Amino acid sequence: MPTKFKPYALKNQEKLSVWRKMKLAITGKGGVGKTFIAGTLARLLAKESYKVLAVDADPNTNLAYTLGFKEEEIEKIVPLALNRELITERTEIPGLHPEVAFRLFPKVEDIFDLFGIRGPDGAMLLVMGTVRDGGSGCLCPAHAFLRTLLHHLLVERDEFVILDMEAGIEHLGRGTAKNVDVMLVAIEPNFKAIETAQRIKKLASDLGLHRFAALANKISTEEEKKFVDVELEKYNIPLLGVIPFDKQIAYADMIKVAPIDYAPLSPAIEAVNRLKDKILHI
Ligand SMILES: Nc1ncnc2c1ncn2[C@@H]1O[C@H](COP(=O)(O)OP(=O)(O)OP(=O)(O)O)[C@@H](O)[C@H]1O
Ligand SMILES: [Mg+2]
Repeated sequence: MPTKFKPYALKNQEKLSVWRKMKLAITGKGGVGKTFIAGTLARLLAKESYKVLAVDADPNTNLAYTLGFKEEEIEKIVPLALNRELITERTEIPGLHPEVAFRLFPKVEDIFDLFGIRGPDGAMLLVMGTVRDGGSGCLCPAHAFLRTLLHHLLVERDEFVILDMEAGIEHLGRGTAKNVDVMLVAIEPNFKAIETAQRIKKLASDLGLHRFAALANKISTEEEKKFVDVELEKYNIPLLGVIPFDKQIAYADMIKVAPIDYAPLSPAIEAVNRLKDKILHI
């Protein structure tokens, strides 16, 4: 099992004291900006002393970069979904082969303490990753582990939890989804991203999650904003925030620096800051 490491000493321990039990899931089509938004929101909340837990639940686990972890720290992270030793330890029933039986509700309460790592400003990160089931809906030990963990994070943790998810939200499950306070779907100004948003809205609603809103990211022109307004209206998806296309964000990605560290006053970061204020008023 990889050892726990805490790269950032919490200098402002006494300051990180604002508790807000809020659970936010950010989803959307590939590349629309989910990780940028999730990581930046987490940093902005931590800067305001909120206790924040950012959860990377995307197979392309790269939330750590956006949160501002250093490359050598990131290299040490093993997504929990790929930690077979841990999954076996938590799900096995002694004497029985996992194909015969395994624990459906393994112990997960200590996972955050064992694997959560602290980033700049004090935001915590847990890298979960995902397990593909090829759409079969099977429940294998890794699924049981991740589902139970997600449920624990959304139901029992008291801090601000931000999930950076992929477009497939099946892992949430019915019992867990209702604990998401708001699901935000990030979109770009194109049909594919909006179609995906509509599909996710349907999935979310099937899971009993009805607090759903869109974030329009990478908006450069009035026409693009209008396009997004018209399309979202068609699908009856409310728009919570608009984030402009911002070259500095794309550049930060190229040089592997967290956007908030590279250009803290850039228009897109300012827009995420306004979004944070709106979310705090939900
Ligand atoms: N507002 C913006 N302006 C310019 N570039 C942006 C903006 N938001 C995100 N990007 C860039 O778009 C790319 C994709 O962003 P990001 O990784 O956050 O998307 P994602 O939805 O998490 O992608 P994936 O589905 O691969 O996880 C990155 O290069 C990022 O820097
Ligand atoms: Mg991502």
